[in-house]
Amino acid sequence: MKGILSEIGRLNHIAIAVPNIQKASSIWENALGANISSTQSLPEHGVKIVFIESPNTKVELLEPLNKQSPISKFLERNPNGGMHHMCYEVSNLENAIEKLIAAGVKILGDGIPKIGAHGNPVIFLNPGDFSGTLIELEEIKSN
Ligand code: CO
Repeated sequence: MKGILSEIGRLNHIAIAVPNIQKASSIWENALGANISSTQSLPEHGVKIVFIESPNTKVELLEPLNKQSPISKFLERNPNGGMHHMCYEVSNLENAIEKLIAAGVKILGDGIPKIGAHGNPVIFLNPGDFSGTLIELEEIKSN
């Protein structure tokens, strides 16, 4: 297991699934005074998103675009919304995958990185291996 933690980078975002992105983001803006990005539609991921900025990370609100959206199933189980996943940055996703597999962690889907909502390669890790929490790893090239 040695070396696994060396892969973990900054917390990039925490994603919260919501039934109504306008309604959900207004409370962050009005009650918490947060800066809210404009809404983006990502049809290839089946979601609409906004970012809520804070000094050390961001919250991403996800609203499904349709019934086929991966977020729709989650909202069936959590109709008022809820925390969906957290995302850590890694500098080299292929290295991270090798170490995760060696450590016995299951990578969701076919295990091959996909291009995520921010245009970078991402994978998702089996929530059962992380105390019931879905973890996304996003490759961020250090500059
Ligand atoms: Co994410």
